Amino acid sequence: MLTGDLVRLRPLEPEDADALYRWHNDENVMRWLQAYFHESLAGLRKRLADREENSYEKVTLCVETVEERKTIGIVALRDADPVNARGKVDIYIGEQEYWGGGYGTDALRTLCRYGFRTLRLHSIELTVVEANERAIRSYQKLGFQVDGRLRQAFHRDGEWHDELLMCVLADELT
Ligand SMILES: CC(C)(COP(=O)(O)OP(=O)(O)OC[C@H]1O[C@@H](n2cnc3c(N)ncnc32)[C@H](O)[C@@H]1OP(=O)(O)O)[C@@H](O)C(=O)NCCC(=O)NCCS
Repeated sequence: MLTGDLVRLRPLEPEDADALYRWHNDENVMRWLQAYFHESLAGLRKRLADREENSYEKVTLCVETVEERKTIGIVALRDADPVNARGKVDIYIGEQEYWGGGYGTDALRTLCRYGFRTLRLHSIELTVVEANERAIRSYQKLGFQVDGRLRQAFHRDGEWHDELLMCVLADELT
């Protein structure tokens, strides 16, 4: 288990399916995330029960608060490239009452530290819709910088949005 100041990161369990199902059907949570197809609760339960163990290529972890041990979201570190020591991250905090409380930033910091110190990555990247200001602010607090722009890469409710490519190098993580 990886421990930050506010959160712990732990492997997913089949029992997490109900929380994930609730988050995936919450339009506020999913607003700036790619979600084309809706998944049944049965399908999600099966996927969690069958999922492969975490590995260098893909680490997916639940975010749990240190104080109440409440499961509030998911982080993932994926597509690790051993030659260039690059990896990609994703995050969402599904329990909205925790937004703005520093939990997402602490979770991503803890995951990036693991990527840099344990997996020996050199850079970590993500993409974020430009309109997702809270997420961008969180990433900037961690030392992520905008390295590129994907024009009109995200479509939602009849509108195109640009996505930003943001990266942090190992010695830049705050
Ligand atoms: C993005 C997310 C992971 C951030 O986690 P969080 O716990 O809310 O983030 P934090 O509280 O650590 O930091 C958020 C920062 O944004 C600021 N903020 C909040 N609303 C904002 C807004 N509308 N515009 C700009 N900044 C905003 C907060 O004040 C805080 O900055 P501060 O510490 O300087 O005051 C979380 O909000 C989330 O999961 N959102 C829904 C899913 C999502 O968008 N995931 C990311 C996809 S790329």
